[in-house]
Amino acid sequence: MNVKSARFITLEGVDGSGKSTQAKLLKEALEAQGHTVLLTREPGGSPGAEEIRSLVLEGEPDRWSAETEILLFTAARRDHLERTILPALEAGTVVICDRFVDSTRVYQGLTRGDLREVVDKLHVLMIGREADLTLVFDMDPVLGLARAKARQTAEERFEDMGLEMQQAMRRGFLDLAKGAPERFAVVDAGRAVEAVADDVLAVVRAAL
Ligand code: TYD
Repeated sequence: MNVKSARFITLEGVDGSGKSTQAKLLKEALEAQGHTVLLTREPGGSPGAEEIRSLVLEGEPDRWSAETEILLFTAARRDHLERTILPALEAGTVVICDRFVDSTRVYQGLTRGDLREVVDKLHVLMIGREADLTLVFDMDPVLGLARAKARQTAEERFEDMGLEMQQAMRRGFLDLAKGAPERFAVVDAGRAVEAVADDVLAVVRAAL
């Protein structure tokens, strides 16, 4: 890990890996140290992107093709970046984003044929920004899926794609981390909340 002044921090991992809980704890811990912090999420994070969120997360698993999803997630991301993320970074705020382009690389890029190159090309064209630091919450998808399904929300299109897909996604996140060690840190998320939170804070403090 060699990230100087990481202000744009993204959290990634399979469904139910505990990212959202950890995102809140990280925000509180950084605020306690005097940082101004914005916690946001994808898909969503701006009014327009939140509207796209319900299109992509609700309904049948085959509601959209992977290609259409790439366009929808990228459209949501562009709006989120323009209206929420970049203005906050320019104001000196630390931005914690629950999922970003690595989710598209893995979910849309790997799970229904190899579309990784399409994701990357569109990202360069329309987004052009990587996180300064990305934490991958790694855990056994059996556990993650059980947790995620226990939440019982309408937003279950991806969880409904099943265990094999979640396993492919876990490998996908780990491969991304291996390919860009200067940006990524992998956290063992299959432990108690406090233990995970301690690791997360240590990694982020070293990078900030
Ligand atoms: P979310 O509420 O973030 O789920 P979790 O709390 O488990 O992370 O739901 C986001 C869902 O959208 C999740 O199943 C992953 C999927 N997703 C994509 O498929 N592509 C993307 O680019 C993003 C940002 C999310």
